[in-house]
Amino acid sequence: MRAAFASAVNPEEPLSGLTLGELPLVVPDGWVPVDVRAASLNHHDIWSLRGVGLPADRLPMVLGCDAAGLDPDGNAVAVYPVVEDKADPRGYSLFSERHPGTLAERLAAPPGNLVRIPDGVSFAEAACLPTAWLTAYRMLVVRGRLAEAGSVLVQGAGGGVATAAVALAVALGKRVYATSRDPGKRERIGRLGATAVEPGARLPERVDIVIESVGAATFDHSMKCSAPGARIVVCGATAGHRADVDLRRVFAMQLEILGSSMGTPDELAALLDLVAAGTVKPVIDSTFPFADTTAAFTRLAEGDVFGKVVVEF
Ligand SMILES: NC(=O)c1ccc[n+]([C@@H]2O[C@H](COP(=O)([O-])OP(=O)(O)OC[C@H]3O[C@@H](n4cnc5c(N)ncnc54)[C@H](OP(=O)(O)O)[C@@H]3O)[C@@H](O)[C@H]2O)c1
Repeated sequence: MRAAFASAVNPEEPLSGLTLGELPLVVPDGWVPVDVRAASLNHHDIWSLRGVGLPADRLPMVLGCDAAGLDPDGNAVAVYPVVEDKADPRGYSLFSERHPGTLAERLAAPPGNLVRIPDGVSFAEAACLPTAWLTAYRMLVVRGRLAEAGSVLVQGAGGGVATAAVALAVALGKRVYATSRDPGKRERIGRLGATAVEPGARLPERVDIVIESVGAATFDHSMKCSAPGARIVVCGATAGHRADVDLRRVFAMQLEILGSSMGTPDELAALLDLVAAGTVKPVIDSTFPFADTTAAFTRLAEGDVFGKVVVEF
């Protein structure tokens, strides 16, 4: 089968280890094959090519965490990206870490990882959801208790998780503020229905939920923007994981600082239903045919993406 895989890892020039070629499909006992129709890229794929979480002894490794395609009965399915994994210290791994990933014509997955795609959702849209969108959904709806909130701040809003959080929070009827360093991205965030501001700017109100994937560079601002009882939900630390936390503000304002990782298959199904109902539409930056996967990676690595980069088979 045709696949995009890491044939080498290189911390300085990650794309030099990206290869498009033929690899065999291996289906472990109890797993099923999926015909992949669309896959989407994440920064995780570039980290893998740098060798982060992907030691050289696991090469060649098919890249990609996110996919949508057809199960053996011909049903349209999205592939939930988390695989239970006793060999991993976290107890789980994502596709492309220990098991071949989603950037291939065919993929092997546990049957419990296949979530039916409802009518009205394209393969490209479904392929955007399993990692970045699912993470944003859980951060907002489950960990952040969105139903109790009036307002949301999303930090670093040009990012994959953050763009999804803006689109979801707007679609679910909240007042949404978003920071981005880039004026062009602020303009596009504004078009999604959020109030876009420069990092560190004073907001017109204190918010009930902050979506934090940036980390040290924005955390102090996240604390200062929080209303009493607010939830600051953290899924990543792109700009540094050692933040300065004023504990007086945590107890005086009764803030909750919550970690969040990925989501559950049921949460992925709920997200697919929101897309099918037309409540929200995944933001797709660009779509490439499989033969142009290297161009898709180049686009992501150059950092000027707004939304998801999709590869179609
Ligand atoms: N826990 C989980 O389950 C999970 C799942 C997915 C991702 N993650 C993590 O979440 C983070 C975001 O992932 P992503 O895929 O959305 O990444 P991404 O697309 O690279 O977005 C990161 C965003 O952070 C902002 N940023 C970066 N450096 C900054 C700095 N120095 N100061 C201020 N803002 C900065 C940028 O926003 P602007 O350019 O708009 O300013 C950038 O677009 C990553 O750390 C990733 O590992 C965690």
